[in-house]
Amino acid sequence: MRAVVHDRYGPPEVLRLEEVERPVPKDDEVLVKVHATTVNRSDCGWRSAKPFITRYFTGLRRPKRRILGSELAGEVEAVGKAVTEFEVGDRVFGINYFGAHAEFVCMPEDRPLAQMPTGMSFEEAATVCDGAILALTCLSKADLREGRSILIYGASGSIGTAAVQLAKYFEADVTAVCNTKNLELVRSLGADRVIDYTQEDFTENGTTYDVVFDAVGKHSFRRCRRSVKPGGIYIETDLGFLWHVPILAFATRRIGDKRVTLPTPNYTKKDVLLLRELIEAGRYRAVVDRSYPLEQVVEATRYVETGQKTGNVVLTVFAA
Ligand SMILES: NC(=O)c1ccc[n+]([C@@H]2O[C@H](COP(=O)([O-])OP(=O)(O)OC[C@H]3O[C@@H](n4cnc5c(N)ncnc54)[C@H](OP(=O)(O)O)[C@@H]3O)[C@@H](O)[C@H]2O)c1
Repeated sequence: MRAVVHDRYGPPEVLRLEEVERPVPKDDEVLVKVHATTVNRSDCGWRSAKPFITRYFTGLRRPKRRILGSELAGEVEAVGKAVTEFEVGDRVFGINYFGAHAEFVCMPEDRPLAQMPTGMSFEEAATVCDGAILALTCLSKADLREGRSILIYGASGSIGTAAVQLAKYFEADVTAVCNTKNLELVRSLGADRVIDYTQEDFTENGTTYDVVFDAVGKHSFRRCRRSVKPGGIYIETDLGFLWHVPILAFATRRIGDKRVTLPTPNYTKKDVLLLRELIEAGRYRAVVDRSYPLEQVVEATRYVETGQKTGNVVLTVFAA
């Protein structure tokens, strides 16, 4: 089968298309024919080995996981003997950490994989799981409900567009911050109000929120703390300069009345099923910026690494 591989860490150009052996499903696995996958920020982190600690998972000197790609949507091509949930021909979507930048990938059936939402294309379904599950993990720390307010900074990214929609699902009052060109999009995702960061600095307007969520790793607790209500919480997605975010998360558990948190992602089937339910109920939608064929993985990756994508970037593998 065709797959995108890399044998050393480095820039997008280390990626190349290669013929590799097609995987064979174990008893508890399904073999998925990948119609669409994505290039996301996690793929870029594994490939570039930044931060350095990622090598702990992928190999100290060179990548042991040659095929990147976490999100996928496709059709079940074969199932192992013990598989009960899926049948050949099922349309599925999910997330698998590695291996999806290929024509076929194997996944244990109990991993975050589910039947695709009805009415959704493979391209859209492929983009659902990463940003939304990361956003769900972050928002789970925020006790969101009616009457609670949240400001989402970086609301136009993969995590940001998901966070706006999910915070509305939890019935919170949502203020979203993004660039001028994305104001309409973010409003259409359900934000109660939007702030254009090129026109207004939200930290200066005196408004405070129960939760401030930096969904793009570009702000800081130091600059945002005045916008967090006493007893409130500041959520980060990145380790920050010199890994100060985990240190702050530890310190603010003991000191002060505003807490910093950096949730660790945990992809579960339960979350994939929740997302499917929300999509089918019309309460969540995928935001796709650009789509590239698998052969253009280097161009797609370069675009993702500009940090300017709106929502998600798709790689099409088998056109539907
Ligand atoms: N904790 C984890 O396990 C984990 C996993 C994956 C990713 N992450 C981190 O999560 C963060 C978000 O990832 P993502 O995939 O959602 O990002 P993304 O989609 O690449 O974010 C891109 C968006 O951010 C906006 N943006 C860029 N600079 C901005 C700024 N200074 N202020 C406000 N908005 C800005 C861009 O719009 P404009 O430039 O047009 O405003 C663009 O729409 C990243 O920092 C990533 O490293 C964490």
